[in-house]
Amino acid sequence: MSVGKIAVVGGGTMGATFVRALTSAGLAQTADFQVCEALPARAQTLRDELGLAVTDSLPEVVDKAELIYLSVKPQDLGSLADGLLDESQLVVSILAGIRLRQVQEQLSHSRVVRAMPNTPAQVGRGYTVWTADAGVSDEQRERARRALSAMGQELYVSDEAAIDRATAVSGSGPAYVFMMLEALTDAAVQIGVSRAEARRMVLETVIGAAEYAAASEAHPAELRDQVTSPAGTTAAGVRVLENRGLRAALIEAVAAAHARAQELGSP
Ligand SMILES: NC(=O)c1ccc[n+]([C@@H]2O[C@H](COP(=O)([O-])OP(=O)(O)OC[C@H]3O[C@@H](n4cnc5c(N)ncnc54)[C@H](OP(=O)(O)O)[C@@H]3O)[C@@H](O)[C@H]2O)c1
Repeated sequence: MSVGKIAVVGGGTMGATFVRALTSAGLAQTADFQVCEALPARAQTLRDELGLAVTDSLPEVVDKAELIYLSVKPQDLGSLADGLLDESQLVVSILAGIRLRQVQEQLSHSRVVRAMPNTPAQVGRGYTVWTADAGVSDEQRERARRALSAMGQELYVSDEAAIDRATAVSGSGPAYVFMMLEALTDAAVQIGVSRAEARRMVLETVIGAAEYAAASEAHPAELRDQVTSPAGTTAAGVRVLENRGLRAALIEAVAAAHARAQELGSP
């Protein structure tokens, strides 16, 4: 089942990811999209690489669209004109920290879904948490769910506060993992592994460990214990990570990201 005519407002990383995901999943075709992009160079890239219709005119783009995907930076919300939409149109906003109410007020439109996707959506392995205003119809919710599922797994939540929590964990989480990948790769190189081999070794280890943990019923601490023999090599490494506060650093990072998401949504 197709998602219908779609307007993408903000053709950056996340906007382009949405287009790619929907077309790869067969839920939409290139001709179903109209993209509003302010940056001329980016607009041209979207035309050249994805064959998309791109303009900087918001009224033109939203006209006749059933779903409007809002993917500008949070600070650019105020640059969007209001009064352009009617009740049949659904807005899906992915703006980090921006509340449903703020989008509704800016656009003078009640039918709004707020979603928090993440960048693994670029390879269909995203995790999107979303919620909807009470005024969004069942049919529109289904349309939103179908569209978001093209990027990977999706989870509907009724409490909007859960979106700020997801922002701190699944939204920002890939960045934490990328830092870990970078550090582990550098560490491998420092003990003599070639850069190419280190990259592959670290990626496969992280992907493998995550898939193993996902498939196992066991608690992560139990999985760690399985590979930590008394006075062994892993025990020596784990002791350093405990002493250097890896666990505390991650806990504080998530708390800081959560506080920042809440701050962004408090005008
Ligand atoms: N990256 C993530 O992991 C992630 C995850 C979840 C949600 N988000 C949210 O996704 C949104 C987009 O992030 P991104 O990483 O894709 O940003 P991005 O690459 O900077 O894309 C935003 C694009 O929107 C354009 N734009 C700004 N105002 C516009 C307007 N009035 N009309 C048309 N286009 C306009 C920007 O142009 P200019 O460059 O000229 O301003 C830019 O090309 C953000 O709100 C972010 O909070 C991001």
